[in-house]
Amino acid sequence: MASDKELDNPERRDFLGAATVAVGAVGVAGACYPFISSMNPSKDVKAQATSTVDLASIPVGKTHTVEWQGKPVFVVHRTDEMISAMQQSNTDLDPEPDSERVKQPQWLVVLGICTHLGCVPNRTEKGWNCPCHGSVYDNSGRVLRGPAPRNLIVPHYAFVDERTIIIGKA
Ligand code: FES
Repeated sequence: MASDKELDNPERRDFLGAATVAVGAVGVAGACYPFISSMNPSKDVKAQATSTVDLASIPVGKTHTVEWQGKPVFVVHRTDEMISAMQQSNTDLDPEPDSERVKQPQWLVVLGICTHLGCVPNRTEKGWNCPCHGSVYDNSGRVLRGPAPRNLIVPHYAFVDERTIIIGKA
């Protein structure tokens, strides 16, 4: 049993205080870990965060629609004529050079959601027409006619190699 003299020792008191705080901190961290860990996305959610697209399966001039996080994404294999026309044109409504909307000129990747009220535009030879209120987009996804206020959104995507992209990966 500690004597009164030992209990009055300030150094011993400081040590006991620090030891108590350290043990308490370890206990709190241990108790919090399962809670914090449960907030991490599951494997299923992580898998849906990206979509892999095999570009080799998309012929020149064709568009494939892929789903990414529950949304349609248009992947267009543009022809030389489309590329040339888009590089030489722009739009007054939301001006943006074609070169800033593509990573490689032959591939356009845009969200298939009209920037007016969110309808899915229909593909046309010259781009897209929105069936809801008549907005028109070109083959760079730039809005040519409203009421859509902005160009189709280019999502984050990355080339893994010449024939594969991953949408959702910066
Ligand atoms: S939702 Fe496309 S024009 Fe209105």
